[in-house]
Amino acid sequence: MYAGLEFYHRPPKAGDILDFDMEGVWKEMEKLVNDNLVKDIGVCNFTLKKLNKLLSFAKIKPSVCQMEMHPDWRNDKMLEACKKNGIHVTAYSPLGSQEGGRDLIHDPVVERVARKLNKSPGQVLVRWAIQRGTSAIPKSSNSERIKENIKVFGWEIPEEDFQALCSIQQQKRVLNGEILFVNKTDGPYMSMADIWDHEE
Ligand SMILES: NC(=O)c1ccc[n+]([C@@H]2O[C@H](COP(=O)([O-])OP(=O)(O)OC[C@H]3O[C@@H](n4cnc5c(N)ncnc54)[C@H](OP(=O)(O)O)[C@@H]3O)[C@@H](O)[C@H]2O)c1
Repeated sequence: MYAGLEFYHRPPKAGDILDFDMEGVWKEMEKLVNDNLVKDIGVCNFTLKKLNKLLSFAKIKPSVCQMEMHPDWRNDKMLEACKKNGIHVTAYSPLGSQEGGRDLIHDPVVERVARKLNKSPGQVLVRWAIQRGTSAIPKSSNSERIKENIKVFGWEIPEEDFQALCSIQQQKRVLNGEILFVNKTDGPYMSMADIWDHEE
């Protein structure tokens, strides 16, 4: 569990990252539902291992799982597992973010589909997320792009173009958590693979 946002731009020191008492935290969250304080509870950045563990003891299933998802990181296995268990998926960084140096907005496939459909690359990426059955939370600090990013209803990406967007070979997380969570000498996460339960 993460102890505070002030650590965002430097590696964690010993003690910054606490062991994750999943069962204890979930039980407290279930109480919030039982006390009618919230309607739904959910998780984010889960792996198959974490999801299966949660489902093994949860009396109330998570309603939603939020995770990074875009054509460069489809994370099909988690999407499948959530669908199978009736858990809604929210795709964060649906435009591929801008953090990792890869510019998904200007990917040739994305640009080609956008030109063909007379939409913007941003709209194509948000629509792609919706057609996969997820919701999507694109972020923009620009009012015109915010308005543009919501115009993703009443039209569809045709199947062949949808599949082309599902075929980008290089699959890599942009927000891998390394800077936030990895402390190589004093865990609990000694490597990026540790964070993601070695599931890449
Ligand atoms: N749960 C988690 O661990 C987690 C982690 C990361 C993010 N999130 C959530 O996910 C949301 C989005 O993530 P994100 O900001 O990383 O990635 P994103 O929404 O995929 O990308 C945002 C970037 O795309 C640009 N952009 C937005 N609309 C555009 C358009 N139509 N055309 C071209 N560029 C466009 C933005 O620039 P401009 O501002 O200049 O438009 C910004 O640089 C955030 O609000 C955050 O709350 C959750």
